[in-house]
Amino acid sequence: MEDKIPDNSIDLIYLDPPFNSNRNYNRIYSTNVGQPVPEEAIAFCDAWELTEEKEEDIKTFYDKLILDDNENFAKFWLSWTEALKYSNSKILSYLVFMALRLRVMRNKLKDTGSLFLHCDATASHYIKILLDGIFGIKNFRNEIVWHYKTGGASKRHFSRKHDIILWYSKNNFYNFYPMKEKSYTKSKYRKAGIINYGKGNAEFFEDEKGVYNLINMHDVWDISYINSQAKERLGYPTQKPLELLERIIKATTKEGDIVMDPFCGCGTTLDAAQKLNRKWIGIDICMLSVSLIENRLKENYPLVVMKGRDYTVDGIPITIEQVEELIHKSEKSKNEGRYQFQYWAVEKVGGFASTKKSGDGGIDGSIYFYKDEKKTLAKMILSVKSNKKLQASFIRDLIGTMNNNDAEMAGLISYANPTQEMINECKNAGRFKMKDGLFADYEFDRVQILTAEDILNGRRFDLPYTRILKKS
Ligand SMILES: C[S@@+](CC[C@H](N)C(=O)[O-])C[C@H]1O[C@@H](n2cnc3c(N)ncnc32)[C@H](O)[C@@H]1O
Repeated sequence: MEDKIPDNSIDLIYLDPPFNSNRNYNRIYSTNVGQPVPEEAIAFCDAWELTEEKEEDIKTFYDKLILDDNENFAKFWLSWTEALKYSNSKILSYLVFMALRLRVMRNKLKDTGSLFLHCDATASHYIKILLDGIFGIKNFRNEIVWHYKTGGASKRHFSRKHDIILWYSKNNFYNFYPMKEKSYTKSKYRKAGIINYGKGNAEFFEDEKGVYNLINMHDVWDISYINSQAKERLGYPTQKPLELLERIIKATTKEGDIVMDPFCGCGTTLDAAQKLNRKWIGIDICMLSVSLIENRLKENYPLVVMKGRDYTVDGIPITIEQVEELIHKSEKSKNEGRYQFQYWAVEKVGGFASTKKSGDGGIDGSIYFYKDEKKTLAKMILSVKSNKKLQASFIRDLIGTMNNNDAEMAGLISYANPTQEMINECKNAGRFKMKDGLFADYEFDRVQILTAEDILNGRRFDLPYTRILKKS
């Protein structure tokens, strides 16, 4: 974001970052044939600890505030962080992460631009102080309460049924296009039509719920959460409803304006921006989110939004050097970061990535297909190896895992080239026969290898045509 997006170029930033909830969020898949698959992959982790690197970042942020001539907040920052170090180091780690990014986001906004930060009661009070410091108290516009009815109930406290969206503008000459909402009247005497009051006229309308007039929209929004059956639902954790994003975008931008979501998840903001003819930029650290968004756009805007013509993707390897970089980053990372090479490889070959621990380790994903005319589900298990050197035992282990998991086929995706011994082991594993009841039988090598280079060159595993695909 810092290097690739010009300063003063964005009209609206909406962000829905991790909230400090102390848990992992898993991506769950649905398929084009409706049949569920058991794979689940960690999309992102929302747990925080104060590392040495984070402690360095506290100082870095202080220096940046001084550079920005924001000395008062810089002083506050020093004593605040010092106090939090002893009282709540987890929240401090989260705040440092947010602080550095929020400052950059402010710089990216046009002078008339706005930022909407989505959070919940876990950290909203801390974030608001941070935003006051970075944007200035005078640029605080609204604390929007998004109220919904779904979710659990508690006997120990009132049921928690709202999120908070903090709105800050860059200046006081920000763009705002006021919106109206319906206010239903309880009076049984009132009828649709124009009613004259002492001070003026009010127009009343009628719909299936009753008689209403239009008032300026309040800061409490009743919008349903996406329920488990909704068509809109994509299986990405923490997906937000399109209606919520449409409202924010309409209120602060016009057609052709640029909307950015730096934690874009499964791309709700981008979808809403596209629908409303705004330009958009989405950023996410998770490989799984990128392919999901591409599918979402393809499904919702066929022919209108095309890769290369209408949008580009940055940061997904297209050269072997970029694959090496991704491996290097994955090896250095903790949490979900360490899976990113694996995700890239599995997604590229059309598999369902998995981080779910099974009894038998070593499965990084699976590709599903029907193996006969009765539509019996079969799978190729996938193992991804970033090792610089490969051993024939990798193939032997993979064959063991394939047998233990009742899989019909197995695929190894490697960074390094396989040895001759490995290729021989694959040959000895035999062939898998598929009967589709229509044409001749088909045969495939039961165990196959692809290198990252092969994948970049467009090669894929040799598989039955009855493959099951991801739905978005
Ligand atoms: C709460 S979700 C956003 C959900 C999104 N609003 C939607 O409707 O799908 C937070 C997202 O932030 C991403 N994320 C976490 N850390 C990040 C980072 N450092 N940079 C970019 N994205 C990050 C996660 O991968 C996740 O997709």
